Amino acid sequence: MQTYLHGRDMITTQEWTKDELDTVIDIALDLKKRRALGEEHSLLRDKVLAMLFFFSSTRTRASFEAGMAQLGGHAMFLDSTATQIGHGDTWKEIGEILGRYDDGIAIRQVDWEIGNKYIRAVADASRTPVLNMQDDWYHPFQALADLLTVIEKKGDPRKLTVNVSYAYAASYQKPVSVAQSEILLMTRYGANVRLTRPPEFKLQPEVITQATENARKYHGSFEIIEDFEQGMAGADVVYAKSWGSMLTTSDHDESAKISEKYTDWIVDERRMDMADEDAIYMHPLPADRNIEVTDAVIDGPHSVVFDQAENRLHVQKAVMALTM
Ligand code: CP
Repeated sequence: MQTYLHGRDMITTQEWTKDELDTVIDIALDLKKRRALGEEHSLLRDKVLAMLFFFSSTRTRASFEAGMAQLGGHAMFLDSTATQIGHGDTWKEIGEILGRYDDGIAIRQVDWEIGNKYIRAVADASRTPVLNMQDDWYHPFQALADLLTVIEKKGDPRKLTVNVSYAYAASYQKPVSVAQSEILLMTRYGANVRLTRPPEFKLQPEVITQATENARKYHGSFEIIEDFEQGMAGADVVYAKSWGSMLTTSDHDESAKISEKYTDWIVDERRMDMADEDAIYMHPLPADRNIEVTDAVIDGPHSVVFDQAENRLHVQKAVMALTM
């Protein structure tokens, strides 16, 4: 267990050691138990987290805000459109000034080829830790919550086949950040990871290289499959969600047009039956119901989506208690 994490940023799990990530999971389970027992755990009394959002959120905002309150501190919600960012406050003003007011800065900025760079620039300018609430490339707290959920539901990830799959959605071209964070973290924990996606829905080559290297180092496996049903076959964990084809085209309309070729990439009961009989179905939410996944699956016996959403709270409290 690595316990000295005070002041550390959480931008991607790949930058934390396996021991450090084990500590997060351990503390998250402890805090989850303490909350269930009604035990007081004001580990961040008088501390303030600034939460800066450039994009909408239900779970991330609500779970960070609830988590800070439960830890005895306060979370300050900042909508970027209501700040002076549009009138000249750069990453430097945000990092320097919020870093002086607050004990941590959490940011969601998912604009393609901007978000991760912006969060790293703020982190460079800030004297307090910066937490990535999702950028264009990574969603580390989602992946940590998902890892905790897999461990709770299925045990040691080293025995498991985890299918991280593209699914069709019509709503908007979603970031690649969830899929990238899932393949990075699940390979760190030795799972047999499948990335199932159409040829136009590639992930970043450097992330694929890292996932491949993680699989080698932690004695799991990593493969890329281009057939939706092949990816489902025998999987212990079905994690199917939509993302945009930004690695193929930066044009949103063209990306949306490409995705229309894959409207049959939907998780329905027939597809779910191809997975292991005890498989779990996961989705970070929000889902495009009856487009990415049918109601029968997302509300059905294999689905763990609400436990997944709850675990956001526990892993985030663990990282905040350790770093702030
Ligand atoms: N999964 C997730 O990050 O949800 P929100 O976009 O609602 O925060």
